[in-house]
Amino acid sequence: MLFPGSHLLSISQFDRGAVDRLFEVADRMRPYAHRERVTRVLDGAILGSMFFEPSTRTRISFGSAFNLLGGEVRETTGFESTAIAKGESLFDTARVLSGYSDVIAMRHPAEGSVAEFAQGSRVPVINGGDGANEHPTQALLDLYTIRSELADRGRTLDTLRVAMVGDLRYGRTVHSLSRLLQLFKGVKVNLVSPPELKMPREIVEELASGGHQVLETDSLEVGIADVDIVYSTRIQEERFASRAEADLYRGRFRLNQVIYTAHCEPNTVIMHPLPRDSREGAQELDVDLNDNPNLAIFRQSDNGVLVRMALFALILDVAEQIDDHSRRVNWYTERRF
Ligand code: NCD
Repeated sequence: MLFPGSHLLSISQFDRGAVDRLFEVADRMRPYAHRERVTRVLDGAILGSMFFEPSTRTRISFGSAFNLLGGEVRETTGFESTAIAKGESLFDTARVLSGYSDVIAMRHPAEGSVAEFAQGSRVPVINGGDGANEHPTQALLDLYTIRSELADRGRTLDTLRVAMVGDLRYGRTVHSLSRLLQLFKGVKVNLVSPPELKMPREIVEELASGGHQVLETDSLEVGIADVDIVYSTRIQEERFASRAEADLYRGRFRLNQVIYTAHCEPNTVIMHPLPRDSREGAQELDVDLNDNPNLAIFRQSDNGVLVRMALFALILDVAEQIDDHSRRVNWYTERRF
């Protein structure tokens, strides 16, 4: 059973009921994330945050989410600052750190590593990305964003049409999102990638056998023409043998305002897990889209806090106590969301 006390290692642990429950709690987190109210429901609790790969949003939003619920964060980043550099196993590290934490969020470059770590942990472990495999909390915040963007446009998740663009082979966010979308009915997925960076076969087959419509193409114009959401991704250069190899693909699919206007339906939502690669020669999402109101990338990153707060509240079983430990903020807050 997912939630109180459970690990979150793969998005496949979710069914529709669990998604609905999570989103309902995430909606209730808004006044806290938006600095209208403060809650201390996790006062005294400790999040162990272990990020062995670069991370900005995921690491900081996990930490902020825990702080916003009143808990504290103990953080380590990079192998060189832990005993793993001295040869300690993931199992032993987990055994030790779970003695110091109530819940652990972890990112690691090897596929399956977070699950291995969880076997040694005495507290729940949340996968913040294990190599090219999965990134379940990103998929949840992506789906939460898709749901809210579609609702603003009078649509629902069933019969959703989405294009995933870029590095579909190594992009763990699109792997988890594709698996999550299988919970809905009649989804249409356009997979736009260079032939060498296609979505893994088993994920395409899972989608197709679930009755969803899948189109694989290497044409950006074809892929983005008839969808509600364009979900762009970065070439995952850290998974390639060399930077030169990644350069073969970087900049292959660039969405900018001219292409958007020419090929997308009006009001197509633009998403990206971020970071977008803004270097010369990359620019998968051009900055000239910044004034386009359909660019949802920063609403998407904001939603990461709501969804991660909801996950902590459900895993630590305090979702129904949050308002009992709350008050209005007593400092000046003017932030536009
Ligand atoms: C993604 C990741 O790390 O998988 N970023 C994120 O967590 N928001 C995508 C990426 O790095 O390209």
